[in-house]
Amino acid sequence: MADPKHHVVKPYLVTRRLQPENQETPIQFIDNDRIQTSLFYRRNHFSYPNLTYSNYFLPINGVVTTPLLISLHSILQLPSKTVEVVLECSGNKRSLFEPKVFGEQWGKGAISQGVWQGVPLRTLLEISGIKEAAKEVVVEGYDFGKRTDLENVFSYTRSLPLEKAMHPDTIIAYEYNKQPLSFKHGFPFRLIVPKWYGMASVKWIKQISVMASPFNGPFQKIDYMYYPNLENDDGAHPVTTINVNSTIQKPLDMARINTGKHVVKGIAWTGKGNITKVEISTDNGHTWSEAQVSDSKSSYKWVSWSYEWNAVEKGIFSIVSKATDSSGQTQPIKPYWNRNGYGYNAIDHIKVMVE
Ligand code: MTE
Repeated sequence: MADPKHHVVKPYLVTRRLQPENQETPIQFIDNDRIQTSLFYRRNHFSYPNLTYSNYFLPINGVVTTPLLISLHSILQLPSKTVEVVLECSGNKRSLFEPKVFGEQWGKGAISQGVWQGVPLRTLLEISGIKEAAKEVVVEGYDFGKRTDLENVFSYTRSLPLEKAMHPDTIIAYEYNKQPLSFKHGFPFRLIVPKWYGMASVKWIKQISVMASPFNGPFQKIDYMYYPNLENDDGAHPVTTINVNSTIQKPLDMARINTGKHVVKGIAWTGKGNITKVEISTDNGHTWSEAQVSDSKSSYKWVSWSYEWNAVEKGIFSIVSKATDSSGQTQPIKPYWNRNGYGYNAIDHIKVMVE
C-alpha cells in the first residue's frame, strides 16, 4: 500500500506577478489564524534588495536630540512586544471593482495574519529624543527602483503621523510566528502598523527620520491615495485604516453541492474597533441570519465565523456575508469606487449550484 503521506495535497500561493513578486494567500484554503510564512501573501513594488547583514546598523535622524546609529544586536537587546496582527494590502479584492481599475488584480487573498515580535518604534524614538517640531516619522526600505510615472529612482519610503508612530503597538518586528522574520517579509526589521493597511508596514528598514514637515514621496502622495474621480484628483485623501470586511472561505464560489446541511464559513476583520456581528444571507440579501463568530480578544486580528445552512431546495443560490464593527461601520452593498482601487469592502458574495 502506498504511504498516505505521499498523497497529502497542500495549497500554494496564487501568482499575480513574478517581477517584482506579487503573490496572494490561498485564503479559501486557510483554516487557522496564524498563516505560515510560505503561504503569507507577498506584495512588492521592486525587486528584492541586495543586502549584506553582517554589519547592519539602523540610523535614526532628523528632528531628534541625538541622532543614532544602532546595531542590530543593540535593537535585539531592547524590551520587546508581541502583537497578533492582520496585514491586508489596500489593493486586496481590487479585481472585484466595477468598472475595473488598473494595478495588481488581487483576488481575495492579499491578506494574512500571524504573531509579530519586535521593539516598539516608540522605544527607539525615545532613545534618540524627539524635538518639539516633530510631525511625522519617515521609514525608508532598502528596496528601490523606477516607477512607470516618474523619471527618478525611488526607494519604498512611507511616513507615519507622530501619534501612530508613538503608539506602543507600532513595532519594528524581527520575528514572525516565533521564527526569525523571513527575508521576503522584511528581514532583519520591518514595521508592523496594526489597524492600517499593509502599505504602512515598511519592510527591510534602512533608515528612520523624524520630520517637521509632511513627507511627499510618491508612495505617500501619489500611490495609496483614494481618488474618487476618474478624470481629476478632486477629493483625494490618504489610505490609512482598514475598512470593515469579510470573506467567505467555504463553500467555494461557483461550487456544485448537494442538498442538505453545509457549513458556510469565513473570516471578518476591521481596523476600527472589533467585529461585533457577521450576517449571512443565502438568498442574495433578502433575508439575513447571524453567523457564529469566534471570540477575538485582540482587535488587531480577524475573527472566524460559521453558519450552518440547510440547503433544502435545488437551484442556484447567492450566499452573501456582511460584517459590522464596534465603530458602527457595516460593509456596504456597493464598494467605494476609486481610481486606484483601494479599500474594497463591499459585502462578500459567492454563488453555488445545489443539485
Ligand atoms: N516595504 C518595502 N520596503 N517595499 C514594498 O514594496 N510593500 C508594502 C509593505 N511594505 C512594500 C513594503 C505593501 S503595499 C504591503 S501590502 C506589505 O508590505 C506587504 O507585506 P508582505 O509582502 O510581507 O506581505
